[in-house]
Amino acid sequence: MTLIAIEWDDAAGDDGRGACRLLDQTLLPGRTTFRDIRSTDDLVTAIAELAVRGAPALGVAGAMGVVVAMDEGARSGWDEAQVQQAVDRVRHARPTAVNLAWGVDQVRPLMEQGRDAVLAAAREVARDDEAANRELSRLGADWLLERLDRPRLRVLTHCNTGSLATSAWGTALGVIRELHARDRIELVYADETRPLLQGSRLTALELASDGIPHVVQADGAAASTILRGLVDFAVVGADRIAANGDAANKIGTLGVALACADAGIPFMVAAPWSTVDLSMADGSGIEIEERSGDEVTVLNGTRLAPVDSSGFNPAFDVTPARLVDAVATERGVAEPRRGTDLTSLGR
Ligand code: MRU
Repeated sequence: MTLIAIEWDDAAGDDGRGACRLLDQTLLPGRTTFRDIRSTDDLVTAIAELAVRGAPALGVAGAMGVVVAMDEGARSGWDEAQVQQAVDRVRHARPTAVNLAWGVDQVRPLMEQGRDAVLAAAREVARDDEAANRELSRLGADWLLERLDRPRLRVLTHCNTGSLATSAWGTALGVIRELHARDRIELVYADETRPLLQGSRLTALELASDGIPHVVQADGAAASTILRGLVDFAVVGADRIAANGDAANKIGTLGVALACADAGIPFMVAAPWSTVDLSMADGSGIEIEERSGDEVTVLNGTRLAPVDSSGFNPAFDVTPARLVDAVATERGVAEPRRGTDLTSLGR
């Protein structure tokens, strides 16, 4: 099954412009529904609701969002300033993943050449992302296999980093797919990833559709699974990686990294170069999105916590470079824990 998270559908709508088509990830795995996005409001809402999510997919959403704003502007008679304001709204729809702003910035300079030029560039952002993911997965798998000598490996991952989180293939899940293709995966422990369950809803869906052996576990089980010796390495994605290797990713990643360090097993971050933010020397300046507490206290519309209890819901954490053994990118593998930071791969 090919799960395409985001693409431009030229045939959508009736004015010849098409629409940005999103697979609505809030409804997976139960329902496969698409949202045809033709307005900035709808795109910002879809990003905020996590209908489209995952840093590289947000990069594509940013790039295609510029086309959405231009088309909406043309339909609604906006002036240039109004179109630019709409583009800025897309750029800031979520704060932590640098890819969203990066995707906007990749195509924004082409606006004066017209929407077709912007759309072509946005499609190129998507194509390049898939190529980067396949390459970083190959390099990441090579790095791991040079260090781990079990015939088949047991891996733990957190959140969803597959086709659904990218334009195709995936990052951390891409590394797992690559190892599976080489017949080197025994079992994947997929953390369920509270509160929005990207692990149990989305990662498990992708693993099942690829026939990769896996189990879903509660996030709270991860440290114990690692310290019991049931895991050979962990691999996760990232939303923003600072120059020194500090990496922001889904809340709960830091605990996985701490357990890996204690157990002495590799902790790998896998991400395309579009997730690396060399303007940040370290992770202290990374803005952590704080989402509604209701996502913690309410599950599937049912309130679990007492009405007088509020939720605390930071969506990401920052794993310090000292806990990151490897950052696999399409440019090569950096080893922050051993002192090679991301600038060694910068061009
Ligand atoms: O809130 P989400 O679902 O957008 O968070 C996603 C993650 O944290 C992913 O691990 C990260 O974006 C990398 S996706 C390849």
